[in-house]
Formats: sequence, structure tokens, C-alpha cells
Amino acid sequence: MTIIVTGGAGFIGGNFIHYYLKSHQKDRVICLDKLTYAGNLSTLKPIMNNPNFRFVKADICDRVAVESLFEEEKPDVIINFAAESHVDRSIEDPGIFLQTNIIGTEVLMDACRKYGIQRYHQVSTDEVYGDLPLDRPDLFFTEETPIHTSSPYSSSKAGADLLVLAYHRTYGLPVTISRCSNNYGPYHFPEKLIPLMIANALNDKPLPVYGEGINVRDWLYVEDHCRAIDLIIHKGRVGEVYNVGGHNEMRNIDIVKLICKELNKPESLISYVTDRKGHDMRYAIDPTKIHNELGWLPETKFADGIKKTIKWYLENKEWWEEIISGEYQNYYERMYDGR
Ligand code: NAD
Ligand code: DAU
Repeated sequence: MTIIVTGGAGFIGGNFIHYYLKSHQKDRVICLDKLTYAGNLSTLKPIMNNPNFRFVKADICDRVAVESLFEEEKPDVIINFAAESHVDRSIEDPGIFLQTNIIGTEVLMDACRKYGIQRYHQVSTDEVYGDLPLDRPDLFFTEETPIHTSSPYSSSKAGADLLVLAYHRTYGLPVTISRCSNNYGPYHFPEKLIPLMIANALNDKPLPVYGEGINVRDWLYVEDHCRAIDLIIHKGRVGEVYNVGGHNEMRNIDIVKLICKELNKPESLISYVTDRKGHDMRYAIDPTKIHNELGWLPETKFADGIKKTIKWYLENKEWWEEIISGEYQNYYERMYDGR
């Protein structure tokens, strides 16, 4: 089988390629990635010489480039991880989010229609469901929860999801969608909460917690997400949405305090800053469907996953130090200075 993984130089796509090449040694994986600020070839360095792997630098919005790759490789499965993924950047500048996340999805699915594929899988997010109130711990997102987005990022992902389902109904394209909660683990770009706090704490820099730090996210170790996608593309039912989550809800402030403790850094580094606009309060996934249909359950407990993640950042400083020493500094100043 030949699989095209878009966005494979990013956090989850990169982890997925490492996971997939190990667990399906007869399959061929082609990574199509534009290498935006979030794409990093050093994430793929360990497998660059694997004969079952090929890297292609291209934009998913570039119809000619996408079609010529389909023509050449005749892929069986497409997994679309490629996206603008950071909520704060979408608040600053929504346009590129609509372009990549919606138009890019359209271009990929048009190529799927033209060349024929066994499966198009869209990697989506729990953010399409909006948020849940903090005082209703009994509520969870199911696949039936209405789409109700808060940010330009989540709106663009929801738009793409609707388009994917429309291509299934209108053209019979064999699609699946997974909507996952917050991932953490190796190769996570240091603009996101957990890697940002680890990098700042290691550099004795302030730890910027938005608002009161009481927002809740449902954290899932990235390898568990990769396993879920693997199951869905091989055994999931066409036309279906699968929620993927860890049943591991934590407040931001508790995560940041835990990172301080693990790194033996003082909590006095914590600095409460102006809240994110439209900040979602709580995400919580009900993963009953994927458990009942595909037998999936998260395997990594947060207490172990966060230790593994911190260890990885300690042992791979060159990976993230190179990122934060470049253009990232301008981003950081724009986002956090005087906040
Ligand atoms: P990321 O920002 O780390 O990586 C995105 C990758 O996509 C980068 O390699 C980038 O170069 C590439 N890319 C961006 N625009 C492109 C384009 N136009 N053409 C080709 N490549 C392009 O993102 P991530 O955190 O790995 O997220 C991957 C997917 O999973 C996204 O679709 C995101 O919405 C979804 N998701 C993420 C999380 C999470 O916690 N990170 C949770 C649920 C769902
Ligand atoms: O739920 C899935 C989503 O998780 C994915 O779809 C997104 O692509 C991914 O980026 C992530 O979105 P969040 O907005 O939840 O992740 P982020 O790491 O940006 O923020 C997590 C929480 O931490 C959120 O409540 C905001 C807060 N935060 C974040 C940063 C970067 C801070 O308090 N301080 C920070 O500096």
C-alpha cells in the first residue's frame, strides 16, 4: 500500500510517519509538506534514507503539484494532517487558515476523485465542537455534538470537515474523519502550551499562563493518536467521524505547575497574562464509538507521557533550540511582550 501523509514534517504527522513505518514495514509512505514555519525536516531525519519513505516539498493548495504526485505515485490512502494549527496565530491572521485548511482539503479531495483512492482521511479536532462549561463535568463531546466553533482556526477545520462529508455524500468519496483532543509528545512545536512551558522553564524564562489558567484540555499522548488513525484507515467505516480523546482532563495551571516540579524550577516563574480572545473553557471527548467499533483505548497515562516528553526535550535540545533561535523570536515578541 502507498500512503500520502500531508503535513508530515509537523508534530503529529511526523510522529505518525515514524510510527507507521515501524508498524507497517511493507507499506510505502510519501510525505507531502510545504515546510511552513511549523514544518521541520529534522523531525524526519531518522527516516530520510528509509527506502519506503519519500519526502516531497509542496503546498496542498497547489493543484498542479498535488495532481502530478498522484499521477506518479498512484496512492491508495491519503491522510491529511497539513494545516495551520495554532489558535493564537489564527486570531492574529485568519486568511492563511482558510486557504490551507479549507482550500487545501478541497484540492486534495479533487485529486482523490480524479485518480481514485481507497481512503481519504481527514485529521480534524475536538475544537469543531466549541467548548463545554466548567461547571458541567458530566458533559462530553460525542460525534453527534453540533459543530459550534470559537476561533478562525476551529472554524476553518469545521469548514473542511463539512466539505469532506459533502464529498462523501455527493461524489461517494471514501472518507473518514477523526476529531482528536490536545496531543503532547516529541517534536511538538514550542509555540504550544506544553513544549513552550518546558523550553521557557529550562531557560528560566517566565511561564505565560493565559487568564487564570483554569481552562481545561483533554491531553492525549501523540502515539495513542497515531494508533487511532492507523485503526481508522484500516478498519473504520467509510463516511464516519471518530472522536479520539484521552479521558485526561487537566487545567492549564496544573500542567504548568507539574512541569515546574518535574524540572525542579520555582513556580515563581509563572506569569499570568492577558487571556486569549474567545478562549474555549473546556474540551472533553467521549471516545466510546472508537472504543466499541475499533477497540481503541489510550495506552499512555499522563503521568508517564509527560515524563517521557520532558525527557525527550532534555535529550533533543538542538531540535527545539534551533527553532526558538530563529523567526520564532519575532513571533514570541509579538505575542507575549507587554501582554
Ligand atoms: P503542526 O502545525 O505541528 O504541523 C503542520 C504541518 O503542516 C507542518 O509540517 C507544515 O509545514 C504543514 N503545512 C502547513 N500548511 C501546509 C500546506 N499548505 N501544504 C502542505 N503542508 C502544509 O500541526 P500538528 O499539531 O501536527 O497538527 C496536525 C493536524 O492535526 C492538523 O490538521 C491539526 O488541525 C490537527 N490536530 C492537532 C492537534 C494538536 O493537539 N496538535 C489535536 C487535534 C487535531
Ligand atoms: O484540542 C485540539 C487542539 O489543541 C488542536 O486542534 C490545535 O491544533 C492545538 O494547537 C491545540 O489547541 P489549544 O489552543 O488547546 O492548544 P495550545 O497549546 O495553544 O493551548 C492549550 C491551552 O493553554 C489553552 O487553554 C491556551 C493555554 N495557553 C497556551 C499558550 C501557548 C497558555 O495559557 N499560555 C500559552 O503561552
